[in-house]
Amino acid sequence: MGVIKGNESPITVEDISEEETAMREARGMRRYNLKVVRINPGNYLMPSLYRQLKDIYYNFEYRSDDIVFVTFPKSGTVWTREILRTMIDTNDTPDPTKINNWGGSFMLHKELRQNLYPGHPDVEMLNKVCPGARVEDGVQVQLAAAFKGRRILGWHLALDLLGPHLLNTCKVVYVARNPKDVCVSIYHFFTNKKSYEGNLEDCARFLLEDGGYWEHISQAWRLKDHHNLHFMFYEDMKDDLLGQLRKLNDFLKLDLSEQKLKTVMERTSFDNMKATNNLELAKANKGPGSHFRRGVAGDWKNAFTSDQNKRMDAWIKEKSQGMDIKFKYE
Ligand code: A3P
Repeated sequence: MGVIKGNESPITVEDISEEETAMREARGMRRYNLKVVRINPGNYLMPSLYRQLKDIYYNFEYRSDDIVFVTFPKSGTVWTREILRTMIDTNDTPDPTKINNWGGSFMLHKELRQNLYPGHPDVEMLNKVCPGARVEDGVQVQLAAAFKGRRILGWHLALDLLGPHLLNTCKVVYVARNPKDVCVSIYHFFTNKKSYEGNLEDCARFLLEDGGYWEHISQAWRLKDHHNLHFMFYEDMKDDLLGQLRKLNDFLKLDLSEQKLKTVMERTSFDNMKATNNLELAKANKGPGSHFRRGVAGDWKNAFTSDQNKRMDAWIKEKSQGMDIKFKYE
């Protein structure tokens, strides 16, 4: 594939070589972690289905009242989504057994790691909401396009894959998490899902670095002063969620009361989210790939030996050179 022109995204997508696939397999990659393509600029790996969807994702039409949030996987995506949904939710007396049933939120890249067989609930939903729509044209993007109300749109893709109009059109919240905890969280996630059988330390290289962690975070960090981008750290949210919610409230110009922010804080605590009966969150908590594991900052201390930690520090120093970012590690 060469550089693409016109309305197509300027991203190039290449297959990886058989040798690289064999090397990744030898390093413990399994299932969809082996079905990847290399993209540029950035030189990192993405699920291979991205090739077919990249221009659709790039050309997605945002609306001025959209709230978009962007995270690298395992950085608090489900938490951020629930915070935003609960902030937007005007129902002040919801069913106490449920956190939020508000339907205007979409994880737009969701299908990249899904097996969307005919009859899959998301395919059924697409058929119902958008009769005649094709799965190949993106499931969540079409569902989101058909949604009439205010939308909360989540992406794991780096900002440069989201088209040139995003930041000129709507508000974007970026949540970053320190690379040591992302490493531990991703290790458990993929190990539990049997998509990774390697060791913890190799995750840094093979799941973070090859997955574009540094590219993802550095792009957002460079834009942190843009008036439509709000950069947050998972560790700050753990440390003082109410303080972070106040900042988010100002950024999003929601004008929520202190009482409402306290409600958001309570409803989105780790324990409440894990325990809720809400269908979508219960799904996120199901089975070996649960999105609610420990939910703390600094869990890496229970995982890395002191030698491993030294090597992680050296790796982080090398990779974050020139970025001027200070991660918090607890
Ligand atoms: P751990 O594996 O370290 O526990 P994502 O949603 O991006 O996949 O991120 C998952 C991580 O966010 C998991 O981290 C999970 O426990 C944590 N998490 C989920 N909900 C949370 C909450 N309400 N508060 C704090 N952490 C939360």
